[in-house]
Amino acid sequence: MTMHPDCERIMLSEDQLRSRVKEIAHEVDKVFKGKRPLVVGILKGSIIFYSDFIRHLSMPVELDFMAVSSYGSGAVSSGKLKIKKDLDRDVNGRDVIIVEDIIDSGFTLANLKALLLERGAASVTIVTLLNKLERREHDIAPDYNCFDIENEFVIGYGLDYDEQYRNLPYIGILKRSVYEK
Ligand code: IMP
Ligand code: MG
Repeated sequence: MTMHPDCERIMLSEDQLRSRVKEIAHEVDKVFKGKRPLVVGILKGSIIFYSDFIRHLSMPVELDFMAVSSYGSGAVSSGKLKIKKDLDRDVNGRDVIIVEDIIDSGFTLANLKALLLERGAASVTIVTLLNKLERREHDIAPDYNCFDIENEFVIGYGLDYDEQYRNLPYIGILKRSVYEK
């Protein structure tokens, strides 16, 4: 597979993603043995990670999705999370696993976790593909994280820039010239 011309370089190859996602899913699988968690994918960025992740789980799972919008990094952190698509299932008393593509400032997940706990979830576990530690502004940490990455804008494997590149099978660093022009 040739690299997309808008990529500076490939950060994580298909092979690296496949083996690490499998490893993390097996860890989660052990911990949730005997339970029946609600696995919540955050649209749209998590879709590819989500579909690879759930196929390595052996306990009975129920799938659900949410779409939320986070504000830019300059936005007030006290602002409430905007829900564009809510869950179909009631989380009251449920063990919830949130599956997210990337934790950047932490705004999205900090707010989402608080919201689901407020709605009565028995537990909220965060599983993320990528973690940009350097950018953290909110007090939130993933319970399971596939890769810590540097502060670079990345695309592919579900992640977009302006709704493009989600279908790339690898994680690539977007060329600065693409978003600086
Ligand atoms: P947070 O609320 O600041 O943690 O932002 C999380 C969201 O920002 C993610 O779900 C992504 O949609 C988006 N995001 C942050 N960094 C990147 C990136 O490098 N590439 C693509 N999307 C990103
Ligand atoms: Mg997202």
